[in-house]
Amino acid sequence: MDGGAAAIFPTISFMSTASTPRFGLQDYIRSIESILARRPSDRVIIREVSQATKRLCADDRWLEEQFRVGSPDGYNRHLLHRDPQNRFIVLSLVWMPGQMTPIHDHSCWGLMGIVEGSLEEVGYERLDDGTRPGYAELEEGRGSDVGRGSVAYLLPPHEEIHRIGNTGDGQSISLHVYGRDLDEVNVFDQTSGKVSPMRIKYYSPECGDQPFVI
Ligand SMILES: [Fe+2]
Repeated sequence: MDGGAAAIFPTISFMSTASTPRFGLQDYIRSIESILARRPSDRVIIREVSQATKRLCADDRWLEEQFRVGSPDGYNRHLLHRDPQNRFIVLSLVWMPGQMTPIHDHSCWGLMGIVEGSLEEVGYERLDDGTRPGYAELEEGRGSDVGRGSVAYLLPPHEEIHRIGNTGDGQSISLHVYGRDLDEVNVFDQTSGKVSPMRIKYYSPECGDQPFVI
């Protein structure tokens, strides 16, 4: 066989979009696994997972109806994936108008993309040196609206205290990925300076419709 044999096979171009693979949740999870397998710095993780997050959120058809369910009692967390090696979790959060988080931190890298609607995110800078247990002095930074096509990130130790809320008139849905199994965060009272641990609750497909606390 010589090299000329390849010339008898014509190149075929498929014009149908049906042959184009869609980037769905499983593709997103595989992308993050691939990035983390290289053990890069948190800053590199943010940059690369940000691109994957934008790609996933460009099309919302991958998010099933059961993970789009909100609650009048507060924004709903749905667990979409927990990494078997506990390197990251993926959640969808459903926000009704007026629902918002307290000021909180994460102690890990994190990213938020928007699947539906938009959210306001406000970051906070810590002014004290962190040596007084249970106390923090915070300064509110500029708020920004995060919409479809935008990504917000958390990068400890200086860019991880924030609050998020739905200030619009309709429901919003966000996609979140965190660099640990997020079972507890710190909540900040900006007026008193008090810092309190808060357990995180979310709904898991592993547990049917029942909410559970991790
Ligand atoms: Fe957060």
